Amino acid sequence: MCGIVGYIGEQEAYPILIKGLHRLEYRGYDSAGVSLINPKGKLSVYKATGKVSALEEKCAAEDLSGTIGIAHTRWATHGEPNAVNAHPHLSGSGNLSLVHNGIIENYKSLRSMLEKKGMSFCSDTDTEVLVQLIEYTQQTYHCDVYTAVQRALKSVVGAYAIALLEKAHPDQLICARKGSPLVIGVGTDARGGKEFYVGSDATPIIEYTNQVVYLKDEEIALMDRKGGLEVVNLSNIKQTPEMHTLQLSLDELEKGGYPHFMLKEIWEQPNALRTCIRGRLQVKDKDVLLSGIQDHKEKFLNARRIIICACGTSWHSALIGKYFIEEAAQIPVEVEYASEFRYRNPVIYPDDVVIAVSQSGETADTLAAIQLAEQKGAFLYGICNVIGSSIARATHSGTYLHVGPEIGVASTKAFTGQVITLCLLGLAIAKEKHTLSDEMFHMLVEELQRIPDKMQWTLEHNKHIDQFAQMFTYCRNFLFLGRGYNYPLALEGALKLKEISYIHAEGYPAAEMKHGPIALVDEEMPVVFIAPKRGMYEKVVSNIQEIKSRKGKIISVVTEGDKTVRNMSDYTFVIPDTRDCFVPLLAVIPLQLLSYYVAVAKGRNVDQPRNLAKSVTVE
Ligand code: AGP
Ligand code: GLU
Repeated sequence: MCGIVGYIGEQEAYPILIKGLHRLEYRGYDSAGVSLINPKGKLSVYKATGKVSALEEKCAAEDLSGTIGIAHTRWATHGEPNAVNAHPHLSGSGNLSLVHNGIIENYKSLRSMLEKKGMSFCSDTDTEVLVQLIEYTQQTYHCDVYTAVQRALKSVVGAYAIALLEKAHPDQLICARKGSPLVIGVGTDARGGKEFYVGSDATPIIEYTNQVVYLKDEEIALMDRKGGLEVVNLSNIKQTPEMHTLQLSLDELEKGGYPHFMLKEIWEQPNALRTCIRGRLQVKDKDVLLSGIQDHKEKFLNARRIIICACGTSWHSALIGKYFIEEAAQIPVEVEYASEFRYRNPVIYPDDVVIAVSQSGETADTLAAIQLAEQKGAFLYGICNVIGSSIARATHSGTYLHVGPEIGVASTKAFTGQVITLCLLGLAIAKEKHTLSDEMFHMLVEELQRIPDKMQWTLEHNKHIDQFAQMFTYCRNFLFLGRGYNYPLALEGALKLKEISYIHAEGYPAAEMKHGPIALVDEEMPVVFIAPKRGMYEKVVSNIQEIKSRKGKIISVVTEGDKTVRNMSDYTFVIPDTRDCFVPLLAVIPLQLLSYYVAVAKGRNVDQPRNLAKSVTVE
């Protein structure tokens, strides 16, 4: 999640910080801010919603002098994207200024503890809790801020990268990390002294120095104008910072070393899903906690049915969600194309729950669909990635994906984030309704927890797809087939290929094929089968046979160890075994990689395919 920049040295900090924020813009963000200590020791904070340029405009007439400062681009996770919630956040006394990337999971309990001690808060963020906690620790133990940071972070659960200024010590910059990345650049100023740069990644730093230290989890760094760089861990044990020389170009760095955002986002999925389920899937307690549902329990318990409105990839994840919610929670679920739903006169009962699924939270048709549902009295629930987006604001309750900004136009990590969130939702309702046996519920919770690791395994075992993607560049058509949970996945596989390689593709329920599409099959038609050794395996094997006898080329996604389908296939991708309902979360990986590498082999603009927009804000 978003961006941190910091500087301490001999140069003016503001231009370095602003340039750094611009360099981090590619990560996606909703607001920005900067904090400086001027030569007279005054600590200032400027914040603005929207672009970094809006922040620059806001600051234009201000005193921006100072050789120490921190800056931030925020991707809201707690509290709407507005100027109050934007970072930096000040401590109660105004002595500390802090920027943070990540999520503090126990912020609610920390906040109420601090409120009981008399501290007050002005934002809705988890970040403000952090800066107040550090100040409270400093005051309670009468220690310096560096020590207070160590002590305070011990009681923090979650992910953080932070940078901190202390008004009383303008010669020191402090930062720390756990879970969220942080890099320290070590440079030499014009007089030969040391200067330090801080960045969420090396993009804001590379222009000034190629000497960097990657801060490790639970490490705290103190950058002192005179004393240099010191690193300790949370137990105050000194660490030896390891210096690295940056080799990558700026462009490569923005994409984390990947040639495209899409590939980066594909590989980010295991971690993105870990963040998505963190705190929600409680394996130890065998529980699922979704506050959006908790707060409106009776709406779900009394729901006559659930209607999910979405478009594109989000519609596909909704369809997987339907299968899961119906199976687990025994509530009828209808999945609607938002663009169709909004223009008919749909029957909606006041005891219907209408869920909008949207990565951007800005898709015009989805927004209009839920507005219509609201007029008809339905309860609205949003599943969005972008915090504070229009759909998130228009719904009565909801769950954020927390998979981080998705930049590539072809949706990848938002898709798996949506599927896993809908599974969490199904489980949370099932628990309340007692529609699953305890044994089954526990088994599903435990298996869902394993999915990010299994996804990592799938990525590692399908790296080779690039080696034969070239062979499919001549194809004019593709078929994607699956049954049950894998039918919506077949639709998603086809959409991915269409979007970025411009090859015509269709997704079908495997058994429907003989009702028409089989007429298309000849030796030039690649047919992708999602054929895990689960559910209707034998039936899918028969469907493969039908295609084979018509000379179609078989590409299959199979469970590790499967020989039958492998032997029938021209190309095979493996996934680890998992429950039927979770197969799409793994089987989507080879499909994403296949479409990506075919598009690359065809020389397409993968991240910005022709005619497509990341968020479709027109009808
Ligand atoms: C996905 O790869 C597409 N680019 C597109 O279908 C997208 O899923 C659709 O426009 C819906 O967007 P949303 O999730 O932001 O509402
Ligand atoms: N959780 C913090 C917030 O919502 C930080 C978000 C970020 O990483 O930008 O303000």
